[in-house]
Amino acid sequence: MIITFATQKGGTGKTTLAIAFANFLSISSERKVNVFDFDFQKSFYHKWKEDEPLDIPKLYEVKIIDEENEEPVCDFENLIEMKESDEVYLFDLAGTLDAKYSDLLIYSDFIVIPFEYSNVSAKSTLVFINFLGLIESQAERVFIRSKYDKGYKYQNQEGMDAEISKYGVLLKSPVFKRNCLQTIDTRKLTYEQKYAVKNSFLELTDYINKCLEITL
Ligand SMILES: Nc1ncnc2c1ncn2[C@@H]1O[C@H](COP(=O)(O)OP(=O)(O)OP(=O)(O)O)[C@@H](O)[C@H]1O
Ligand SMILES: [Mg+2]
Repeated sequence: MIITFATQKGGTGKTTLAIAFANFLSISSERKVNVFDFDFQKSFYHKWKEDEPLDIPKLYEVKIIDEENEEPVCDFENLIEMKESDEVYLFDLAGTLDAKYSDLLIYSDFIVIPFEYSNVSAKSTLVFINFLGLIESQAERVFIRSKYDKGYKYQNQEGMDAEISKYGVLLKSPVFKRNCLQTIDTRKLTYEQKYAVKNSFLELTDYINKCLEITL
């Protein structure tokens, strides 16, 4: 199956959540996790490389996708093969819309969309939803409130929640703003990090299991 972390807005927590979810699945599921970094900044890949000296075993491989790649990873045949596979193919995208993402966004099983309630983020999320509509993406959309501040009263929360719920599933549990997530690595989840993402990720895996009639 293909699970893609994407949205049009930069800095919303895509890579952080993609790393946390890849770690979470590698630890909690029997399925093999394969990560593709499709962002020109290659943040996920660099982090994974940086973690090489750590004295903890690697949880998964991370490959980069760029123009220099000889084999096209995201062509139709490969995508269908990944989609039909029992393994998990997890993609982390850049915070910009680009035609090169279209096929992946069309054929992903799930697109995980982290968002915040700031006006800029809210607008970008709606633009991204619109883009998915235009390319006729078949993927299930899962929205996660990212960097959520418990003590803050977001004025547009109700309206935004109602709007995005028309286009996909909004997870009840937010991922709160937590310092521990700023120092995440690709080899483990600390107790604190696990606590920070657990409820959202259990909801997410439940939803995936329900949609695909599988057990992650
Ligand atoms: N839940 C969180 N709590 C606190 N800080 C967070 C959280 N999630 C992400 N951050 C921080 O926010 C910044 C942006 O996060 P991240 O790189 O994951 O976003 P992104 O959407 O991948 O950005 P880009 O669009 O540049 O790829 C990072 O400094 C990260 O450590
Ligand atoms: Mg990123």
